Amino acid sequence: MIELFRGDITRLEVDAIVNAANETLRGGGGVDGAIHRAAGPDLLAECRTLGGCPTGEARITGGYRLPARHVIHTVGPVWREAGTEDALLAACYRNCFALAREHGLGSIAFPAISTGVYGFPADRAAGIAVAGAQAHGAGFARIVFACFDEATEALYRRELSA
Ligand code: APR
Repeated sequence: MIELFRGDITRLEVDAIVNAANETLRGGGGVDGAIHRAAGPDLLAECRTLGGCPTGEARITGGYRLPARHVIHTVGPVWREAGTEDALLAACYRNCFALAREHGLGSIAFPAISTGVYGFPADRAAGIAVAGAQAHGAGFARIVFACFDEATEALYRRELSA
């Protein structure tokens, strides 16, 4: 069941929310900053034990003060038109679903990974996100795309109705 949510992903009561992190896993701005602010300092403390995360991969932590039980941190590609970004972004979704499945999670929420600071074209990224959910989301009771603005939500709505 794929749902669209308009607003702040940190408010969602799901088994895991996905963080659009950077390779250091030391926090940042955007959704990364919002998740760390809402989760509290214990999230960063746990992230420090993970030794970072390569682009395209995913790591799981507790959710701490978040309503979500876990945070799955993934690192999207920076858009450089190198020709490798689509595959790396698809890997983020594939690896987040795989990690959630390994931990027996039934519900997961994603932000629009890489479409903010990392500059990935939002329409192209929405297509990759929806394709990822369709390819790897079998068995999940809830898959939520958390869209922070109207433009992003419209892109996901178009992809889901295609
Ligand atoms: N809830 C849901 N979505 C959000 C929130 C929020 N609270 N805050 C921002 N977003 C949206 C943005 O509007 C954008 O659509 O998340 C999407 C991803 O944008 P960024 O957070 O900038 O992430 P990204 O483009 O992947 O860049 C990652 O930014 O914050 C740093 O540490 C992070 O270095 C990393 C880089």
